[in-house]
Amino acid sequence: MSFLTKHKVLITAGPTHEPIDPVRFIGNRSSGKMAYAIAEVFAEAGAVVVLVSGPVQLQANHPNIKVVPVETAAQMYDACHQYYSSCQIAVLAAAVADYTVANPADKKIKKQGDNLTLELVQTKDILMSLGQVKSNEQVLIGFALETNDAIANAKKKLLAKNLDFIVLNTLQDEGAGFRHDTNKISIINKYNKITNFELKDKRLVAQDILNYLEEYLREMKVV
Ligand code: CTP
Repeated sequence: MSFLTKHKVLITAGPTHEPIDPVRFIGNRSSGKMAYAIAEVFAEAGAVVVLVSGPVQLQANHPNIKVVPVETAAQMYDACHQYYSSCQIAVLAAAVADYTVANPADKKIKKQGDNLTLELVQTKDILMSLGQVKSNEQVLIGFALETNDAIANAKKKLLAKNLDFIVLNTLQDEGAGFRHDTNKISIINKYNKITNFELKDKRLVAQDILNYLEEYLREMKVV
């Protein structure tokens, strides 16, 4: 029996789409592949997974995965708070929009003039908000995508968001990050221990994260 059997795990995936008007949105290049791989590997290990997913071209196949589809950062926030208290583990891998359009138009915006200015307002940080309500029995895992000062920035996020550990990926590595089937990660835990992993298929990266979590729980005796 796996250490995850009967554990409930919240996972966020994909981008969010922030509407400009009924036909346009602001989004990002996240494919959701990394998060879906994590959901599948965790479900295969016996976990019950709630996968709160932004718009992606992927399907979750395991019967233990319940997909909760959302579009916007605000919807993802609400869904996460609905499920978090019943979960022992949360892995927030979504590329959530940091800003949303202040007043999306309810009709398609017609072309007029040479310039168009959109007012953007900050979205709520879902991961940080879960860190604020996290209990001692819950394990909270975040992701960080950094292009510079990667380790220092990831450590700041780990601390600010009250995480157990953070999975860092940089876009500097060939074959890592958005759209690729492979990824190269480092994991930093709250005791400042850094573990580096090789470039590999996202499913194998998901397995590394699962193995790391198992070891972490054994050492911490948290869950
Ligand atoms: N995250 C979140 N809600 C947001 C923004 C980010 O839950 N509104 C989560 C992501 O899912 C990820 C982590 O926070 O697990 C870090 O996201 P990242 O975009 O790297 O960092 P930010 O905190 O948004 O900081 P910055 O964009 O300034 O680097």
